[in-house]
Amino acid sequence: MLDTFLEIASFRRCAIKRAAQPIDRREKSMIEDVVLDPPFNVTRASHVVLATKDLQRSKEFYCNVLGLIESDATADTLYLRGYEESCHHSLVLKKSDQATCERIGFRVLTDEDLDKAKRYFDRIGIRSDWVTVPYQGKTLHFSDPIGTAIELCASMTFVPRQMHNYSTYRGGSAQRLDHYQIAGDDVLKAYHFYNQLGFRPTEYVTDQNRMWGVWMQRKGNTHDLVFTNGFGPRLHHFAYTVRDAHDLIHLCDVAGSLGYAGAAERGPGRHGMGGGALFAYLRDPDGHRVELFNTHYQAIDLEPPIQWELHDPKRTDLWGMPAVAKWFFEASEFKNVQVKSPVIPTKPRTLEDVLAVKA
Ligand SMILES: [Fe+2]
Ligand SMILES: [Fe+2]
Repeated sequence: MLDTFLEIASFRRCAIKRAAQPIDRREKSMIEDVVLDPPFNVTRASHVVLATKDLQRSKEFYCNVLGLIESDATADTLYLRGYEESCHHSLVLKKSDQATCERIGFRVLTDEDLDKAKRYFDRIGIRSDWVTVPYQGKTLHFSDPIGTAIELCASMTFVPRQMHNYSTYRGGSAQRLDHYQIAGDDVLKAYHFYNQLGFRPTEYVTDQNRMWGVWMQRKGNTHDLVFTNGFGPRLHHFAYTVRDAHDLIHLCDVAGSLGYAGAAERGPGRHGMGGGALFAYLRDPDGHRVELFNTHYQAIDLEPPIQWELHDPKRTDLWGMPAVAKWFFEASEFKNVQVKSPVIPTKPRTLEDVLAVKA
């Protein structure tokens, strides 16, 4: 009993002491040591599998507005890729009654990494299943600790890169899939899991000394995978690169001219995070959100992550205007995955908040 009392007293002293520390020390304490020898080698964000209510409508949007290339199509599935991609698909659209996200995919380097992943998940008590997926080699399915549905593979059918085929460029002429952003109920739990897999944080967002969001990478630029606090798990967006700022403007012009003006949700704008990328976010005909952006900075060396405050107006838009509320609060649910309330009850500042103050 006395031991328990002393433990509680000690914990409270510790908590008080932590609270009295300078802000930068307290914030750094949530950042874990990086894992340089992870249990298996994830190399990059690879492909996303979405369910759509209307395959033809989705095809018109992604091929004519984003400019994605059709690799193959069946009666109920569409396989698309960007101009510089040599993998068969980075976006798979499946016909369904419900517009959900089925999975986000990552590449690992070799089939041996898949076997290592299977053994690792068995060891830590996470169920994983071998599946057969067209145009992919061995493929492993699992769900992370906050419920995000993940697919791992080490190989995909090769296809010719089309990046020099300028005469066929359309819309935003999207080049390659770069990253995902997931709204999650427990960002810290997700960060811990992926940190153990060798994902390294480049930037993170705090609100009252709690982790509101974390940007993590495996491929050597700012992020492959982002978690932000919110009802989740839900896919907030997936993102393709474009060559330059003009392609973003042309993307918006083409979207408008083809009758998709309502699909343009946010931007063009310039992020503060991620090195100041120019961005535009669109909602596809099912409401799935896709981002196009021009560049991120290199992040290969071991260095401390950049910390941002949630309410810093330069964080998500360097030009000062926050996103509309629906950008923060709407996202695609994962198929058959229950959405949970966020552990941090915070509310980002929205464009509507700013306009209400100014009105
Ligand atoms: Fe993004
Ligand atoms: Fe972005």
